[in-house]
Amino acid sequence: MSGDIALLLGARVADALARMDVAITPSEALIRPSGRAGADYQCNAAMSLGKKLGKPPREVAQAIVDGLDAPEVAASEVAGPGFINFTLRTEWLSDRLTSFDDRLGVEPAAEPRRFALDYSSPNVAKEMHVGHLRSTIIGESLLRLLRFAGHEVVPHNHLGDWGTPFGMLIEHLSETGWSGDHTITDLNGFYQEARKKFDADPEFADRARLRVVALQSGDAATLALWKDLVEESARHFAKIYELLDISLTPEDVYGESYYNPYLAEVISEMEAMGITSISDGAVCVFPPGFANRDGEPLPLILRKRDGGYGYHVTDLATVRYWIRDRGMTDLLYVVGTPQAQHFQMVFAASRMAGYLGPDNTAVHIGFGTILGSDGKTIRTRAGGSLKLVELLDEAVQHATSLVASRSSLAPDDQVAVARAVGLGAVKYADLSGDREKDYTFTWERMLATDGNTSVYLQYANARIHSILRKAGDTARGPISLAEPAERALGLKLAQFPAAIDAAVAGYAPHKLCQYLFETATAFTGFYETCPVLAESTPEDVRRSRLALSALTSAVLTKGLELLGIEAPTQM
Ligand code: ARG
Repeated sequence: MSGDIALLLGARVADALARMDVAITPSEALIRPSGRAGADYQCNAAMSLGKKLGKPPREVAQAIVDGLDAPEVAASEVAGPGFINFTLRTEWLSDRLTSFDDRLGVEPAAEPRRFALDYSSPNVAKEMHVGHLRSTIIGESLLRLLRFAGHEVVPHNHLGDWGTPFGMLIEHLSETGWSGDHTITDLNGFYQEARKKFDADPEFADRARLRVVALQSGDAATLALWKDLVEESARHFAKIYELLDISLTPEDVYGESYYNPYLAEVISEMEAMGITSISDGAVCVFPPGFANRDGEPLPLILRKRDGGYGYHVTDLATVRYWIRDRGMTDLLYVVGTPQAQHFQMVFAASRMAGYLGPDNTAVHIGFGTILGSDGKTIRTRAGGSLKLVELLDEAVQHATSLVASRSSLAPDDQVAVARAVGLGAVKYADLSGDREKDYTFTWERMLATDGNTSVYLQYANARIHSILRKAGDTARGPISLAEPAERALGLKLAQFPAAIDAAVAGYAPHKLCQYLFETATAFTGFYETCPVLAESTPEDVRRSRLALSALTSAVLTKGLELLGIEAPTQM
């Protein structure tokens, strides 16, 4: 049991059915929170069961209600074509909330999995762009969510640090001289110079190709320069990770180069299995089900005609490494949707090769593009592709004026709050929509103080802290849920485990965002109708309301933390 009340009720329904010799699982009981006044949950299973058993659904529903043994349920009632409405016992609900510890009702996974999580994964000698920002933010949230849910997660950063571009860049730098200590913008510039030279000068292009060979065969001077480039870039990435409070460390770097020693082995293994073929001189696999526009089977190229290895085979090696060598059970890749087909083909080929077994899953966690207000991929005013640091700086600037206009804090104390608000807004904008969709980036919407934004949640949480501060160390609890607004908030808080379940199951942080927004809204409803600190509020009611407020803050704070967002206690 995960702590989700719907699953608890599902187990009760399953028990009732088992007594009638009908076997279903708790989740097959199809219990959902109810939208109806008076009902807390609804069971939708009787319709399909009716069909299966050849009985009218209402009759099945009534039999479930009659056979139900559920101490947490105050009332259950058949409605419509065969729904069952459940109302929870209010006292059961308040006892449950009173018993919450810092896990807030979330029980650790009964069968923990071992996830390898590929996220961020920028390219060496290139500036991180907003696509990497999305991967970084979404990946970080999944890391935190999966760990909180009780799974083991090993993050890894698949740096683009290998292959043809580096032959070009290293050749260029060794010809013009490399002194080290550059900004990432310099590296970006060197890379573009190298690219130009490569396109214009065939002799340089030949030398660049020889450099790739030198790099791959471990030539010392070439490798030394390469290492400098990688380390310098990694330092720039680390700065962004620190700014954004991202868990990735240098130890988590498993760049493309890491898999280089495995590539020949992967190919000869797959050749020995007889699943490869030669096409146009290249060694390929043709996983079934993939075709180009003309209906011809699509190859996954393992080794190019010139003997070079590419992006595809490197990812086959990642699958083999994390499953076989590191004993992971599930592989997650947080990468933009344009790479969807690449991953589908890699996963299919991995199944053919047995690198992925029946108990393993591999999931491409795709995400859409960030659009500017013109509906096109977001750019700087000058028209260049937007740099991450610039975007984050701008976010903090906007937040600084927002905070200044509302805060009673001393200017010095506003600095940290503005950072939390600005960076939180960028993260939340990334996380609060269905990740597969593109989204439009507008400061006004991201920093709106009401609506489904992080600022709204942060202010709600800070308001609660201010109430708790005013109350001093007045003892809190036990919780009672006498007023409708108290009960509505209490029910929401008790649904935190379900929100975590949903976000984890779908790798969908936006489900947690939606839940937090609803929780903050329920708190507003409560706060408007249920005075906490007023003179007229009786002592026991005040203690209960303080406890309910504190619990709301705990849920908002934990939820934001799982999204990688700070929750200041004073704004
Ligand atoms: N470096 C790649 C890019 O910027 C992303 C790598 C994603 N991970 C992977 N295993 N292919 O597009």
